[in-house]
Amino acid sequence: MNILITGGAGFIGSHLVRRMVQNYPEYTIYNLDNLTYAGNLENLKDIESSLNYEFVKGDIVDEGFINDLFSRLDFDGVIHLAAESHVDRSIEDPLEFVRTNVIGTVNLLNASKNSWKENYYRKKFYHVSTDEVYGSLGQDGLFTEKTPYNPNSPYSASKASSDHFVRSYGKTYGLPFVISNCSNNYGPYHFPEKLIPLFINNIIHNKSLPVYGDGKYTRDWLYVEDHARAIDLIFHKGRNQETYNIGGFNEWQNIELVKLLCEIMDRKLDREKGESEKLITYVKDRPGHDLRYAIDATKINQELGWKPSVTFEQGLEKTIDWYLSNAVWLDHVTSGDYKEYYKKMYS
Ligand code: NAD
Ligand code: DAU
Repeated sequence: MNILITGGAGFIGSHLVRRMVQNYPEYTIYNLDNLTYAGNLENLKDIESSLNYEFVKGDIVDEGFINDLFSRLDFDGVIHLAAESHVDRSIEDPLEFVRTNVIGTVNLLNASKNSWKENYYRKKFYHVSTDEVYGSLGQDGLFTEKTPYNPNSPYSASKASSDHFVRSYGKTYGLPFVISNCSNNYGPYHFPEKLIPLFINNIIHNKSLPVYGDGKYTRDWLYVEDHARAIDLIFHKGRNQETYNIGGFNEWQNIELVKLLCEIMDRKLDREKGESEKLITYVKDRPGHDLRYAIDATKINQELGWKPSVTFEQGLEKTIDWYLSNAVWLDHVTSGDYKEYYKKMYS
């Protein structure tokens, strides 16, 4: 099988590419990525010379390039992760999110449909999406696969739109597809614009920890390798035209999570207890900030036997240890443009 993974140089994509390359030597894994600020081939150093792996640099928004790629290489499956993924950036520049997340997805759908010429035997288009499409929960309840879409940020609106396009290609053209909607991931190779890696980096450098609003916002955290394992399972065993929710059964209020992070960092950095917590600073809230996300992952558990394998305490320790022993990676991704970004968003 020839499998195309888009966005494979990013955070989740690199974990998925590694897993697929290592677990399926009989497949050829093509990683298509245009290496935006979030894409980094250093994430894949350990597998880059594998015989069943090939990197292709290119933009999913470029229709001509995508059509040409699909006519040159005969893909059996597409696992689509390439996206603009940061909510705060979507508030600054919504159009970039429409281009990549909506138009990029439609380009891939068209190319798949046209190259497969309605011969869909053993073909699959897998769209990796987010729980943010469901909007915000109040204090109670969980997102199920039947929760109506109600996106609140330009990022989640663009992901919701791409989900609808995928579904529409299934209904209109019979394209075999599957969609998954996952909660917040964390782990190694996470770009330090997102809460956990940003705060680890700031604690290391004794910089303030900018908690939005009152810090009472709640997220459901999942270790990234558990997400990659879920994607692998759904790609191989998920039912056609179905959606699967993926989550960690692991809700944390931001402020409680940040305090736990500070406690572990004090221990790892040999600092006095309570030292990192002093860096916490409450700052202006994110506009349209969703109060709470939490996933009901019963369907994937009952149909495919998936459940998270890493506890939050184990996952956080692993993640922090990884950042502390990969200072060079962290330095590379926080130099150059990152400094400008940080100044613009947090000054
Ligand atoms: P990321 O920002 O770390 O990586 C995105 C990757 O896509 C990068 O390698 C980037 O270079 C690439 N890319 C961006 N625009 C491109 C384009 N036009 N053409 C080709 N490549 C392009 O994102 P992530 O956190 O790894 O998320 C991956 C996917 O999973 C996204 O679709 C996201 O919506 C979804 N998701 C993320 C989370 C999370 O917590 N991070 C949770 C659920 C779902
Ligand atoms: O739920 C899945 C989504 O999780 C993915 O689809 C997104 O791609 C991913 O970025 C993530 O979105 P969030 O907005 O939840 O993640 P982020 O790390 O940006 O923020 C987590 C929480 O922390 C959120 O309530 C906002 C808050 N926060 C974030 C940053 C960056 C702060 O308080 N301060 C910050 O500096």
